[in-house]
Amino acid sequence: MKKVISFSSGKGGVGKTSLVANLGMLWANQGKKTLLVDGDWALGKLALTLGVKPQWAINDVLEGRISLGEAVQGVSEHLSLLASPSGILGFEELSELHRTQLFYEIDALQEDYDLVLIDHSSGLHGGVIQFAAAAHQHVVVTTAEPTSYMDAYAIMKILSKRFKVRNFQLIITMSQNLSETQKIIERFIDITQSHLDVKVKEIGHFLFEPKVAESLRQQKPLVSLYPEIVFSQKLSKVCQSLESSPIEKGSGLKFFYSDNLNLTPTR
Ligand SMILES: Nc1ncnc2c1ncn2[C@@H]1O[C@H](COP(=O)(O)OP(=O)(O)OP(=O)(O)O)[C@@H](O)[C@H]1O
Ligand SMILES: [Mg+2]
Repeated sequence: MKKVISFSSGKGGVGKTSLVANLGMLWANQGKKTLLVDGDWALGKLALTLGVKPQWAINDVLEGRISLGEAVQGVSEHLSLLASPSGILGFEELSELHRTQLFYEIDALQEDYDLVLIDHSSGLHGGVIQFAAAAHQHVVVTTAEPTSYMDAYAIMKILSKRFKVRNFQLIITMSQNLSETQKIIERFIDITQSHLDVKVKEIGHFLFEPKVAESLRQQKPLVSLYPEIVFSQKLSKVCQSLESSPIEKGSGLKFFYSDNLNLTPTR
């Protein structure tokens, strides 16, 4: 089953990019063809996190010189990356037509992969929300700080009210104390579910782990450097949870196409 999974947070710096890089590496190591898409086209760090150099510019694709497939770079045997393009402002600054064209091209790309993971920029602007909504599964990443989970709530509110997204998977990062944080998160989930017409399932809870920063310095995913540590094993469980969660009916990138735009891939 092909899946497009989006990772968003609202608040920045909560660990989305390192999660996406590590989950992608784990799936690729299982032989699943996995594509990581850097959705932060202003300040994307997915390439840096994986130790590869971005090699394309958005105009090459929008003007038909290359296809989006040609902009994809190999990272390891089954892992590919559509890096943040060089020399471009944020995704939200593209015109509606260009955004739709890119959704179309990303959708065409997903045919070649078992999994597509989209690592979003922080913030709540329309481009991020629309891009986030165009996925089969919705992972929201937060810490247990109120400033972070209030932004996670805001993302879920907009996605549920504007795009009828009903199911969210929650990942908590950088906890100082798992049992204390667990109570905060359970209460947060209860409040969210009672105020919004959504189901929220916690699928991963991670302690603050200094090795995450070390793996960034080495530009290698933590699961490759330290496959045996608890953090890496918990990441494998997140993979399993996401694999067993169903795709939302009616979701996916095609959901956004407007028939009258009559778009075809540029090549
Ligand atoms: N569980 C963790 N323990 C310790 N540090 C972490 C953890 N997760 C992420 N970090 C650190 O937090 C910083 C931000 O991580 P990352 O870039 O993955 O976040 P992000 O949500 O993608 O940020 P942005 O919104 O800016 O894209 C990095 O320096 C990373 O090392
Ligand atoms: Mg990031």
